[in-house]
Amino acid sequence: MTKQPAHAPHLLSVEAALAQTAEEVTQRYRTYVNPGIVAQMQLVGFNKRFVRAQGTTVYDDRGDPYLDLLGAFGALNLGHNPPEVLRAVQQAMDQPNLLQASLGAAAAALAHNLAALLPGDLSRTFFCNSGAEAVEGALKFARAATGRPVFAYCKGAFHGKSYGALSVTGREKYRAPFQPLLPDTREIAYGDPDALEQVLKARDVAAFIVEPIQGEGGVVLPPDGYLREAEALCHQYGTLLIVDEIQTGLGRCGTLFAFEREGIVPDIVCLAKSLGGGIMPIGAFTTTPAIWDQVLGGMERSQLHTSTFGGNTLACVAGIAAINAILDKQLPQRALTIGEHLKAGLAQAAAKHPELIDDVRGRGLMIGIAFHIPNSDRNRGIGSTLHHLGEEYIGSMVAGELMNHHHMITAYTLNNPAVIRIEPPLILTEQEADDTIAAFSEVLERIKNPLGLAVSSGKTMIATAVGRVVDKAKRNR
Ligand SMILES: Cc1ncc(COP(=O)(O)O)c(C=O)c1O
Repeated sequence: MTKQPAHAPHLLSVEAALAQTAEEVTQRYRTYVNPGIVAQMQLVGFNKRFVRAQGTTVYDDRGDPYLDLLGAFGALNLGHNPPEVLRAVQQAMDQPNLLQASLGAAAAALAHNLAALLPGDLSRTFFCNSGAEAVEGALKFARAATGRPVFAYCKGAFHGKSYGALSVTGREKYRAPFQPLLPDTREIAYGDPDALEQVLKARDVAAFIVEPIQGEGGVVLPPDGYLREAEALCHQYGTLLIVDEIQTGLGRCGTLFAFEREGIVPDIVCLAKSLGGGIMPIGAFTTTPAIWDQVLGGMERSQLHTSTFGGNTLACVAGIAAINAILDKQLPQRALTIGEHLKAGLAQAAAKHPELIDDVRGRGLMIGIAFHIPNSDRNRGIGSTLHHLGEEYIGSMVAGELMNHHHMITAYTLNNPAVIRIEPPLILTEQEADDTIAAFSEVLERIKNPLGLAVSSGKTMIATAVGRVVDKAKRNR
């Protein structure tokens, strides 16, 4: 064992890190990572210690199973710790993972596979490490390829939180503290081709970036034909079409890429999340040789856009294995069948509570349950406080009920907290779908109105607040 010098601080080992109790994790997270997130998790009873995960299920420190219906916001299409992806990573373990002074074999192979699966001329891929980074690269390419300054994006869109990606993300809450963002952006209504045309007419728009279904916006489906119209308009006005498949892609919505349903060929496609098989962080965007060459063509310009870990061996073999496993298991088709069954069951349960639920919508295993916001006029006093609480937290309050009473993990969508998302691994069984419907029905029965929900979850909040005072007292002893 390596001896630590006498002055070295006490450092935790990997063994100690993995063996931490729920309380230790909470304390350290609060002190060293993000105290606000700790408070938020505690508020809805999400501060559990999960110690094992396999497939659709995670297990807490008492060995109790929880069904993961959140699926890491679309990053777990294959479930937790998929053996195919773990095997691939193990197979590549003794190869150089990072060696910039050579060509990455795994990157070349993954790019080959993506080109084989994507339509048209989409065949050159840039690899990076996250969704936001893929979007950043796509935006840079669009500017450089067109020589135009402007980006068009949709209200409610979510494309990531780095500066470029945030500049085309449509929620003020995330944008306001970081202003000024990129100056030349135009926000338009989602699903509205006329609004798009109004903006494109100026012929200064480099790219229109769009999600085939808005994920964080609240699982919002555009009208049929919208992507086709957007493609035609972009061609007409010389604007590049960037399709963000980071959340919708790799089988979740019933086809490998959600845009396939409309038979379009985007100019740039962004991927991340499930491309890493739930194991490795990886992002990518694929474009045409013509666009690529306008930006990075020739030796001189070939390194204008780079990323140190982009294309590393382990991430790329995970990507190869993930895509192969998704196709071998026919997960896109499965997502469609199980998704329709689940959505129909949830809609049936919701129909009994029109006062609570506004809408159940989605495609494949990307489903959103939209709640009504409590009416503040009816509920003055405490009611108006709860209105605000309800507006921001109704989704997380329902998620708290599902977690604590039914051992089911869900969450609200980032840009629309009144929507609960159901985005489980695509390997979800019919039985698990039925269990989900039953649990959801029970939660709705228990909570007859939004005010009741706030009060019911308020018990968790009060318990949390009391717990905090006790915690503090213990620390001060
Ligand atoms: C559609 C979409 N684009 C981009 C991103 C950003 O990805 P990341 O969190 O990996 O940066 C997300 C993340 O939720 C997303 O849903």
